[in-house]
Amino acid sequence: MEWKREAYRIVDGPLAVDADAVFRLLAGTHWANRRPREIIQKLIENSLCFSLFLGNEQVGFARVATDYTVFSWLSDLVIADAHRKQGLGEWLLRCVVEHPAIARTQFVLQTSSAHALYERFGFQESAKLMTRLPPGTQRSAP
Ligand SMILES: CC(C)(COP(=O)(O)OP(=O)(O)OC[C@H]1O[C@@H](n2cnc3c(N)ncnc32)[C@H](O)[C@@H]1OP(=O)(O)O)[C@@H](O)C(=O)NCCC(=O)NCCS
Repeated sequence: MEWKREAYRIVDGPLAVDADAVFRLLAGTHWANRRPREIIQKLIENSLCFSLFLGNEQVGFARVATDYTVFSWLSDLVIADAHRKQGLGEWLLRCVVEHPAIARTQFVLQTSSAHALYERFGFQESAKLMTRLPPGTQRSAP
């Protein structure tokens, strides 16, 4: 699918993704800045990806690990610095939660700072979730 807003567009699917741009975007985050390039490639191939473009430049990314039936894990939402604070993060999030293939699934995510943003889309904190980190991992990763 493709959504347009002024000069920006959002495209779904792994084929649209500029993996080098996503690698750079995620390198600027506190949770994914140590992920090697091949890990980024693999998560792109295995996720429902949402890519934000201005012209041919990818300036935003989000992805969902989903079974397309009951469960979707939203992760790695990021907008390039120069393009923040103009509503693009909210727009990207709206495209994700309203995507017809997953809109009727339960969404889960992890965030340390953006609760207010997600609450606007109906996300609520839950005391019922548990997580198991990969062996050897000290910190949690969204
Ligand atoms: C969070 C992020 C995606 C927002 O993108 P954006 O394009 O600037 O967002 P928008 O312009 O649509 O505005 C988002 C709204 O959410 C609010 N918000 C809540 N938590 C926020 C946070 N941690 N960072 C930025 N905005 C946040 C903003 O204040 C803004 O509200 P406003 O319109 O009333 O001012 C962007 O700041 C980013 O990439 N940050 C680094 C990566 C990150 O923290 N991602 C979220 C991981 S859970």
